[in-house]
Amino acid sequence: MEFSVKSGNPEKQRSACVVVGIFEPRRLSQSAEQLDKASDGYLSTLIRRGDIEGKLGQSLLLYNVPGTLCDRVLLVGCGRERELSPQKYNTIIATATNALNEGGTMEAVFYLSDINIKGQDSVWKVGQMVITVEDTLYRFDQLKSGKDDFRRPLRKLIISIPSRRELSECELAVQHAQAIANGVSTSKDLGNLPGNICTPTYLAQQAQHLASLHESLTTTVLEESDMEELGMGALLSVSRGSRQDAKMIVMEYKGKADDSQPVVLVGKGLTFDAGGISIKPSAAMDEMKYDMCGGAGVIGTIQACCELQLPINVVGVVPSSENLPDGDANKPGDVVTSMSGQTIEILNTDAEGRLILCDALTYIDRFDPAVVVDLATLTGACIVALGHHVQAVLSNHSPLTHELLNAGKQIGDRAWELPLFDDYQSQLDSNFADMANIGGKGAGTITAACFLSRYTKKYKWAHLDIAGTAWKSGDKKGSTGRPVPLLMQFLINRIE
Ligand code: BES
Ligand code: MN
Ligand code: ZN
Repeated sequence: MEFSVKSGNPEKQRSACVVVGIFEPRRLSQSAEQLDKASDGYLSTLIRRGDIEGKLGQSLLLYNVPGTLCDRVLLVGCGRERELSPQKYNTIIATATNALNEGGTMEAVFYLSDINIKGQDSVWKVGQMVITVEDTLYRFDQLKSGKDDFRRPLRKLIISIPSRRELSECELAVQHAQAIANGVSTSKDLGNLPGNICTPTYLAQQAQHLASLHESLTTTVLEESDMEELGMGALLSVSRGSRQDAKMIVMEYKGKADDSQPVVLVGKGLTFDAGGISIKPSAAMDEMKYDMCGGAGVIGTIQACCELQLPINVVGVVPSSENLPDGDANKPGDVVTSMSGQTIEILNTDAEGRLILCDALTYIDRFDPAVVVDLATLTGACIVALGHHVQAVLSNHSPLTHELLNAGKQIGDRAWELPLFDDYQSQLDSNFADMANIGGKGAGTITAACFLSRYTKKYKWAHLDIAGTAWKSGDKKGSTGRPVPLLMQFLINRIE
């Protein structure tokens, strides 16, 4: 998709389509008002007749509107003006995008930055437009033989902004948002690919391919033999039940010449989680191909950093494995020794994410991180606690928590804090090892983070549990690419 920014009157646009907002009940937005004047009240007549109420999600395509130079005008319902929110703004953009794409309009001008969202400026609106349009147009059809292509897909969008003075900052916002959207799209692709294609080896190849495209990126891949030498007994124990080799993918992005401390991102890359000997029920087990979405998020974020040449150092680490039942798989009761030297009693082989993450979190100490953020589809309990709208954040450093919460809020990829109180730690007590890998009944997301906290004492660290946000189930099943936007906003804020 090609985006550009300009400023000018809607009636003067020579375009396939001009898009303007209508508020409920039957009220014109500023740009709609302008078109109405130019067309001698054409729009207000239609609206008075009740053709469109202005409800959120509504749209109406008009042809040959008098007094205009465009082929079509698309009216988009915005809901009640007083009830507008960032989330509703994105619904407006998505509605407009679908209407254009399905209506065969290949190019359009969005007059949607005149819609007031409390506390948000043009730069924000432009960024959201780019991210939401790309999100809405995303399709995953690479594994279908007959593609159901739109004959005339939306190709080019011009974003109109109220003032010429804001052109250059809005152009920059387009650039940033486009790179973020590309990162989201890469992350979605990796997530949507099935476990028989997207294996640990495949993920490693993608990370290496990315490094071949960008000077600023170096990818190295640790093999099982390397992990053996490093003593990564926890990670290797998970992989033992799988015929695919485990990989530890290390991506070093250097955006700054000096050796300033990097932000280290660690993403769970479990390419299929059957649960192991503590096998999962078969209903919806296919969705456990998404158990590598943390890793996909890291790769998508690193890609966006490369595209933007962000002036910051970032290291992305993806421990990657499968978790399957097998004669050589972990058994409940097994005790393994992690790279940190701490021993773990594996009471449930399905709590494997923390086992591969703990060794990665010990490994990354060598990068002398400024901060560490891990992202993982770690616990079903996170969905019980927060559902599918926000991801959980738990951290040993409260300023870092707030940076992440703020970044998520800013870009519409929100997180919510859960407590990491010491009180929960004793749930991990084991009679036979330094700790158990499960915390028993209650607070499953917190006890999982407590487990990780035992490996992250040396640095400032936050954990994002993305079990509820990384993908959607049901008839819209698919990866969301979250939390790439949150992480990118977080990194961008650290530069400015
Ligand atoms: N990958 C799952 C977590 C998960 C489950 C995410 C369902 C999204 C949807 C993780 O490896 C897991 O199985 N966790 C267990 C932990 C339990 C055994 C303590 C869980 O959540 O049931
Ligand atoms: Mn599991
Ligand atoms: Zn898992």
